[in-house]
Amino acid sequence: MTEFIGYPIWWGGAVWPVNHFVTDNDFTGEKVIPFATSASSPLGSSGSDLATMIGTGDWQEGQRLSSNASAGEVSS
Ligand SMILES: Cc1cc2nc3c(=O)[nH]c(=O)nc-3n(C[C@H](O)[C@H](O)[C@H](O)COP(=O)(O)O)c2cc1C
Repeated sequence: MTEFIGYPIWWGGAVWPVNHFVTDNDFTGEKVIPFATSASSPLGSSGSDLATMIGTGDWQEGQRLSSNASAGEVSS
């Protein structure tokens, strides 16, 4: 199965409640695609930081969207 994990970037990283979400779940055997919204910061290491924190799942590179992304940008 493929899991999409979305969060806003706060202070250059994934907003911290997401840490609890990933550590409370087991992504073994799952493809995990992180995505984030931000005012200007890139996705940066936020996805790989979460991957390191949990240690399970096949984490993909993911994508950053602007905070006012249109439906078309999200689906492309
Ligand atoms: C406390 C706080 C810290 C933030 N830090 C960043 C940041 O470091 N870089 C950035 O580009 N945007 C930052 N933002 C903007 C959020 O990423 C942006 O508001 C969010 O992605 C849009 O999602 P929302 O509609 O749920 O607020 C910050 C916002 C808040 C409230």
